[in-house]
Amino acid sequence: MGIPQPIAKLLRFGVLAYLTGSVLYTVHYGFTSFVSSSSSSSGTVQDIRPRMVSEPSQAIFEVDSIVYSDQIVEWKTSEKHPDHKVDEDVVIHKVFANAMQPSKVLPYYFKAAQDFDPESVTITTLITFDRYPVFSKLVTNYQGPISVSIHINDDEDRDENLAKLHDMYNSNPYMKEFVDVHVVVDKFNRQFNMWRNVARFFARSNYFMMLDVDFHICTNLQQHLSLDPEARRVMKEGKAVVLPAFEYVNQEDGEDSSTFPKDKETLIKLVKEKKITTFHDFFPKGHNGTNYELWYQTDQVYKVTSYQHSYEPYIILRKEGTPWCDERFVGYGANKAACLFEIYISGVDYYVLPKDFLIHQSHPYKEETRKQERKYNRKLYQNFQEEACFRYSRSFVQANQWDQPKSNNLKEQCNKIKGFKQAMNYFSQA
Ligand SMILES: *[C@@H]1O[C@H](CO)[C@@H](O)[C@H](O)[C@H]1NC(C)=O
Repeated sequence: MGIPQPIAKLLRFGVLAYLTGSVLYTVHYGFTSFVSSSSSSSGTVQDIRPRMVSEPSQAIFEVDSIVYSDQIVEWKTSEKHPDHKVDEDVVIHKVFANAMQPSKVLPYYFKAAQDFDPESVTITTLITFDRYPVFSKLVTNYQGPISVSIHINDDEDRDENLAKLHDMYNSNPYMKEFVDVHVVVDKFNRQFNMWRNVARFFARSNYFMMLDVDFHICTNLQQHLSLDPEARRVMKEGKAVVLPAFEYVNQEDGEDSSTFPKDKETLIKLVKEKKITTFHDFFPKGHNGTNYELWYQTDQVYKVTSYQHSYEPYIILRKEGTPWCDERFVGYGANKAACLFEIYISGVDYYVLPKDFLIHQSHPYKEETRKQERKYNRKLYQNFQEEACFRYSRSFVQANQWDQPKSNNLKEQCNKIKGFKQAMNYFSQA
C-alpha cells in the first residue's frame, strides 16, 4: 500500500524527531550515570547513622528507636509456596531507578503518630537543612498530614545535618503528630523530581499537594475542601486542583507570614492597592493559566482553559494513577513544568480552587547556579515534550483511547509540534 508523499515526509519527520529525542536522552542519561558512578568510590551510601546522639542544642534523640531501613518487602503467594522476600534497597533502587545512583532513601525516618484520613490531602514537599525554620512554620500552620523529603548531602557535615534534623523534629510538637520524614542521603544536590517522587510515594492519604516549602497556605484549605462538593468531585475524578499563588511587591512585607491576609477579600484589597501581585509576574506564563482575573470574581471551581508548557501552578492531585515526575530532570529549571506537562497530556485537567491561595515567603535566591542549570534543562525539556507526546499517543492509540476525551489535552499540546498531527492521523487510521 502506497503512502502519499506529504504524509510519508511527515512520518519521517516524526520518527526523526523521536529518534533525536531518544539519542539526546541516552546521551544525557549516560552522562548522568557516568557522573554518579565516578563520584563515589564505594558504590553504595553506607552507614548513615548519625554518630552524635545529643548534639547540638536542645534535642536528645534515641538512636535505637529509629528504623534504619534495612527492612524486607515480602510478596505473599498461595500457602503451598514459599513467600518471596526482597531487600528494601532493591525495591527502592527500582522505584527510583531513573535517579542518580548511588543514593540511600530512608523512608519514614520519622513517622507521625497519627493514622491519617485517607480522604485528606497530604502536603508533599522537599527541604534541605537550611529550610528547617520555614518548614516548621508550614507544619504548625497546616495541622494535617505532611510527607517531606529531606536531602542530606553525604559529605563531612552529614552527621551534623542529621543531628540538626533531629533537633528540628523535636523542636515542634506538631511534627510528631503530622509529619512523615523521608531522608535521602547521597552526593547529588537538587534532584528535585526524585525527591518529589519520594515524598509522594510514601504519602499516606489518597491525595497529595505538590508544594514548595516557602509558600504559606493563607486559608483554611482543609475546611474549604470538605465543604466544597464540586472541588471534591473533580479531585475524586483524578483531576488536578490549583491553588493560586501570590507574592508581596516589597520583599520585606513577605517575610512574616503572620501578617499575611487570611481570606480572599483581604487579599483582593491588597492586590488592588498594588501591595501584592501574582507570583513571578515578570514571567507570566508560569502562572497566568490560573486566570487570576476570573479568580477575583468567582466563588466557584473553574477549569484552566489556557494551559501551556511553562505553566507551573501548585496543585493537589490524586495519588493513584497520576504520572510521576520524571527523575531525569536534575537542578533548577523545567523540573516541575515537565512533571506538570506529563500529568496534563496524560489526560488530567486542571481546575482552580475559588477560595484558597498561597503567598510566597521572601528569601534571597542564589541566582548564579540557577542560570546555568536553567539553560541546560530548557533544552532537555524541549526533547522531553516530544518524547512524552509520542509515548502517550502511542499508548492512547493502542488502548483505543485516541478518540476519547482523555486524549484531548495531548492533542491540544502535541499538535504544536511540527509534523505531529499528520503523523498521528496516519497512525490512528492505519
Ligand atoms: C500569559 O502570558 C503570556 C506571556 O506574556 C501571554 O502570551 C499569554 O497570552 C498569557 N495568557 C493568558 C491566558 O493570559
